[in-house]
Amino acid sequence: MRNIIVGFLGCGNIGCGVWKLLSEFENDIHHRSNVNFQVKRILVRDMKKKRDEIIPEELLTTCAADITDDPEIEMVVEFMGGEEPATQYMLRALENGKTVVTANKMALALNWHDLQATAQKNNAGLYYEAAVCGAIPVIRTTIDSLQANRIEAMMGIINGTTNYILTRMSQEGSAYQDVLRDAQRLGLAEPDPTSDVEGFDAAYKISILSSLAFHARVPFDVVYREGISKVDALDIAYGKEMGYTLKLLAIAKRDGNVIDARVHPTFIPREHPLSSVHGSFNAVFLHGHACQDMMLFGCGAGSAPTASAVVSDMLYAANREKPYHPTFSNENKLAEGLTVTDDWRCSFYIRLTASDKPGVMAYITSCLGEEGISIRNLMQREAVDGHAQIVLITHQAGECAIHKALDAINQGDAKVESLIRVEGK
Ligand code: HSE
Repeated sequence: MRNIIVGFLGCGNIGCGVWKLLSEFENDIHHRSNVNFQVKRILVRDMKKKRDEIIPEELLTTCAADITDDPEIEMVVEFMGGEEPATQYMLRALENGKTVVTANKMALALNWHDLQATAQKNNAGLYYEAAVCGAIPVIRTTIDSLQANRIEAMMGIINGTTNYILTRMSQEGSAYQDVLRDAQRLGLAEPDPTSDVEGFDAAYKISILSSLAFHARVPFDVVYREGISKVDALDIAYGKEMGYTLKLLAIAKRDGNVIDARVHPTFIPREHPLSSVHGSFNAVFLHGHACQDMMLFGCGAGSAPTASAVVSDMLYAANREKPYHPTFSNENKLAEGLTVTDDWRCSFYIRLTASDKPGVMAYITSCLGEEGISIRNLMQREAVDGHAQIVLITHQAGECAIHKALDAINQGDAKVESLIRVEGK
């Protein structure tokens, strides 16, 4: 049996999950892979912190070099989170020729070029299944199982916190702030929820996923990002009446050499498979030219599901003769020859308040018509204080044309209250 000496960078929720899974699954790992993982050192910030698992104190260290520079340690597994110092520690481990397994989407999305180049230069392996969608094997599926495909589109619910919040807002009709507070009380949202609710977490993940799917680097900073903190429960209710479910989607599409990559609240038809992904579950719906439509679904976060992906990567790395490296040019910029558009096409949900008087509807439709935008569905509610609520869904239109039309509408007797993109039809 091959003994692999391992160092952990971090020992929080995920670290303890990995420790637990390695312990309880040890015999199966031996039996299936003929590999034994021996954890030698674990980097922690606080030696005295109470942890979910009983970890021998002599393994703990506060010095990263005890792991990254120990010649006996062959594999470094990182779950510290955050960009730094995690990136520096991983780079150091790779420079020393060690295999690195990471669950850190932020460090990877922002520094993939450096990490990958260092791994390649030192013939070291870099594995990151756990960085995107926890237990769902979306990275390996994209790299391996779908390699005979030109993937043209991906749409994912890849942040559990926001999906939990939107699900409850939709089911209960509750306001965003009330559900967020409750999710924080239950430990389902972070005390500082910015990364999740403003779409950063999903943008890191779609940058990684789309780069692999399109076989071309799509850096984080080209991803358009809009979170859920301004979502009004009223729009969720109107959308529902019209047959749509609101989700925070991460979307990446490629049409020839033009890419769009974006994270924003999105209405999808109730019949779309992503519409039934509730609570904190994740799912990625994709289309490949050969495989056609496909959806991967499962637990995108949490200690055990993330540990499932980490330990799977450890085994995958241990069983490979040569480390895997993507063959596309992985620089810190969009791949040469590609362009990113901010003029993507989709349908749009628009809610307006308008003076309840003759000619207002004609004015709204003429502003849209002027930009070549056609209305698919329209609903008007009885006026309150002389103001009518008008909700409409357009046919496919360009993002830039919509903004021009809405600017024009706002100059007249109507006010645009919400704009939500609609996908999936
Ligand atoms: N905070 C993330 C989520 C999990 O809510 O899905 C880790 O990426």
